[in-house]
Amino acid sequence: MPNQQPLKIAVLVSGNGSNLQVLIDQMLADALPIKLVGVISNKADAYALERVRLTNAQHHSAIQTAIIDRDNNGKKYSRVGFEQRALAVLGEWQPDLVVLAGFMRILTPLFIDGVSQTLNVPMINLHPSLLPAYKGVNTHQRVLQTGERFHGCSVHMVTSELDAGRVIAQAVTAITPHENAEQLQQRVHGLEYQLLPLVVNLFARRLVVWQSGTLINQSGLPMPLRLWLD
Ligand code: GRF
Repeated sequence: MPNQQPLKIAVLVSGNGSNLQVLIDQMLADALPIKLVGVISNKADAYALERVRLTNAQHHSAIQTAIIDRDNNGKKYSRVGFEQRALAVLGEWQPDLVVLAGFMRILTPLFIDGVSQTLNVPMINLHPSLLPAYKGVNTHQRVLQTGERFHGCSVHMVTSELDAGRVIAQAVTAITPHENAEQLQQRVHGLEYQLLPLVVNLFARRLVVWQSGTLINQSGLPMPLRLWLD
């Protein structure tokens, strides 16, 4: 394979950031050809920010962070205010790919079109269900209440319709008898830690590329890619 520049990625988070940590760990281990240019959080107290701080301190890295929570007057950013600020930050960082990993704020076309048309880069989201089933929140509880036999997670393109963009890959697992929502969530987290880096790797190795606003799959793999992970 010809030498390629590492894929510059920006990650948006709201909370714990365990999926962000997996990307950081694989980047540091040279297992993923990416450069994490920055992390945007809409929550000042997101633990994901602490993860970046620790990484920068321990590895002499310079991953940038942008906290877009409250403005200079202590007032919570409006939806539009957040999106304008986040677009400006991404404009400075110039990522090749935007990743939503535990980002818990609904985005409007202002931001979504800003990324895909103005910045002209793809944006993906990690969602804890087998889309198109179980869009939205509380997926694990709803899956159990319905009595599903299978569950999992998806990585999909972000479009203006919530959790409805093209699915790139999914990880599937069988629900085990007597499993509760918390246990299922833990197991799905384990799947996410495998699925998200795999999809980022497809982008980083240019097996999946973004051309004129369209995703082109040149990996030779079916899309959506469905993986049975246990
Ligand atoms: C993940 O379960 C992801 O599917 C959902 O939010 C969770 C984020 O977890 N969108 P973390 O912040 O990466 O630990």
